[in-house]
Amino acid sequence: MSDLTTELCGLKLSSPLLTASGCAGYGQEFFQVVDSRCLGAFVTKSATLHPRDGNEGCRVAETPAGMLNSIGLANPGIERVMAEELDNLQGRNLPIILSIAGFSPEEYASCIRIAEAHGGFDMYELNLSCPNVGDHGLALASTPEGIRTIMSQVRGLTRRPLLVKLKPEVADIALIARTAQDCGADGLVCCNTYTGMRIDIARGRPVMAKCIGGFSGPAVFPMAVKNVFLVSQAVSIPVVGVGGIASARDVVEMMMAGASAVQIGAAALRQPEVFMKIHRDLEALLAKLRVERIQDIIGRVHRHD
Ligand SMILES: Cc1cc2nc3c(=O)[nH]c(=O)nc-3n(C[C@H](O)[C@H](O)[C@H](O)COP(=O)(O)O)c2cc1C
Repeated sequence: MSDLTTELCGLKLSSPLLTASGCAGYGQEFFQVVDSRCLGAFVTKSATLHPRDGNEGCRVAETPAGMLNSIGLANPGIERVMAEELDNLQGRNLPIILSIAGFSPEEYASCIRIAEAHGGFDMYELNLSCPNVGDHGLALASTPEGIRTIMSQVRGLTRRPLLVKLKPEVADIALIARTAQDCGADGLVCCNTYTGMRIDIARGRPVMAKCIGGFSGPAVFPMAVKNVFLVSQAVSIPVVGVGGIASARDVVEMMMAGASAVQIGAAALRQPEVFMKIHRDLEALLAKLRVERIQDIIGRVHRHD
């Protein structure tokens, strides 16, 4: 049987399959149907400094081969996440990646101070790229200056690894990735949702709460592979691939593009059991490809062997 273990920022993961932030909550319902042995780590829904109800109106809409969401970072706030929600995740022998989001560098810093005071998790994922809040979404990952500003405020606050979740629709994603690495990021998550819009033709109005929503699911997969390819070529820190993954073949493709691990969002919202299926299929697929260790395929497309 092939070895599915991989590594992320010094952490050994028994599987390359991770939850995508916001697509498995804090695990309470998720683990009623998903066997945690299929997962390499659990990524939480992004927590913010203050509790948020999220956006009013339509929050989720299906599209052919994908979905739009406009959740607006609904969450109980970092204090309650640390005090109440992390309990569901502990004791499963599964690394926990705490996703945090904020509306200013100071808010990220406050979240990290609170999280550090509680402990009980392994790594941070900084969501600098949610498209569904404010007028234009979280824009910190749009420019090198934004990345420098946030990293200068937070890097010194923790010794835990920091993953930076990138925004896919930027002028030069390799430049943003390099800047995050230079500012002390330990790894990158590539990427958050793309953006999209649908119109309700009976009303002549946008379908989604805030007109434009985050677009994800199988339709974005080739764009996500491209971004992982470009980013992993530009940095030496590990990259986690996310966007449209729905099968074992997608996992292999994403890892060959340069991902050390992958996250699954929309496919798991549709059917959480997909984690078990992909885990099973991955073992069979790697055997067929005569790959003994999944780590050996990471970035294969960059090598000409
Ligand atoms: C309903 C929903 C909620 C999400 N919430 C978050 C979130 O809180 N924080 C975050 O960083 N990304 C969030 N995302 C983005 C996902 O983590 C992921 O980056 C994106 O959906 C692409 O993966 P997919 O194509 O497998 O869904 C959310 C996505 C969806 C569909």
